[in-house]
Amino acid sequence: MSTSWNRREFIGGAASAGAAAGLFRPGAAQAAGAGAGAAAPEKAKVAWPVWGEPEETELLEVLNSGQWGRGRAGRRLAELEKALADRMRARFCLATSSGTTALMTTMGALGIGPGDEVILPPYTFVATFNAITIGYALPVFVDVDPETFQIDPNKIAAAITPETRALLPVHIGGSPADIGAIGKVADAQKVPIIEDACQALLAEVNGQPVGSAGLAGCLSFQASKNITSGEGGAILTNDEAFANLCHNFHTPGQPKSGASPGRAANFRMTEFQAGLLLAQLTRLEEQAKTRDANAAYLTEALGQIPGIAPARLVPGCTRSGWHLYMLRYESPKFANLPRARFLQELSRAGVAASGGYSSLNTSAHVRALADNPRYKRVYGEAAMARWLEANQCPVNDKLCREAVWFPQTTLLGTRADMTRIVETIADIQKRAGDLAAAG
Ligand SMILES: Cc1ncc(COP(=O)(O)O)c(C=O)c1O
Repeated sequence: MSTSWNRREFIGGAASAGAAAGLFRPGAAQAAGAGAGAAAPEKAKVAWPVWGEPEETELLEVLNSGQWGRGRAGRRLAELEKALADRMRARFCLATSSGTTALMTTMGALGIGPGDEVILPPYTFVATFNAITIGYALPVFVDVDPETFQIDPNKIAAAITPETRALLPVHIGGSPADIGAIGKVADAQKVPIIEDACQALLAEVNGQPVGSAGLAGCLSFQASKNITSGEGGAILTNDEAFANLCHNFHTPGQPKSGASPGRAANFRMTEFQAGLLLAQLTRLEEQAKTRDANAAYLTEALGQIPGIAPARLVPGCTRSGWHLYMLRYESPKFANLPRARFLQELSRAGVAASGGYSSLNTSAHVRALADNPRYKRVYGEAAMARWLEANQCPVNDKLCREAVWFPQTTLLGTRADMTRIVETIADIQKRAGDLAAAG
């Protein structure tokens, strides 16, 4: 992976071999162009998403109902919002067209705009950053904890200024950030939390699903996600007034009671997407249990290999959403075999893995903001130069060099698939000296 944008190509195109036996209709795999033929199961790419009769029924029913968008007669959006709110134990849920537009809606409902600052971790998909900059607010990076891969709560307070309008922690990989510790900082500084839970459906801290610990949380149903409608998103919140504000921001017309944020867009989800997601939800828990068990097995077994450090779950984490299985690869314990060669060896053995994100805070996309004429006008040239300087996040940069990811589809594999991953890594370690010498 050379850039952070490429994550989807990785998940869509290099999903693990042999995973999810029995979950796929062979026809579906072929229709998806995934080439999951029985002849070469070791190298076959797993089709994602999984779909079947429930999705076909939902799509046809929506089609034939003629109620394709959010309106009075369509029932699926309301059903989906109720199902997600129930599942994530939040009082309110608003479905949106994507995770990005869910995040943008929360920013819009808070009235965040030019001159305002929003705190985020650099170890995230670029969409988190984009949701802030689309409204000309200033993203402020807070470095991550190398053990958990999550935002380091101990570094947040120092980044808060009188201009800070929101904390935007990300539950990266689907594992929760330390929302308890983040909440204490937010309370002390009276700054709202919007959780980027785009990868973290079903993740829990102390038995409470993520997404509503702060003011609101956002989910994504983009194509790689653990349930998907191709694109889609949702906002979770316990605050009725904020739910209404979000509703009114995400749609032109059809306002709910309460204030208008004065600005609005069209970020509505369709009934087709809602129908697909209702169907996807019927498989979610069973798939999640498989991921839970396989992730626990991997953590136990890989943790015994020197130089392999599975991402640690934060204190109080009672469940991860397991969108990714993340670990750190310490090349000195592998005879200094570079990570790229390690990944190559995994690939040769049929184990799909990637190096994950490259450093967002030093990326050309982020650096370009310092040169943006509008930003210079709002914040001043000197302030943008200082901002660029302050974007240094050394822990994140190192993590981006050491990380290795397995996609969620790998965690749908069999126990034998997991054993093969562990054995492959142990075998690479045995051969690391020779591999490193061969270059
Ligand atoms: C951490 C994170 N934030 C935000 C997003 C944006 O979601 P979407 O792609 O649905 O706009 C994603 C999804 O790709 C994500 O992984």
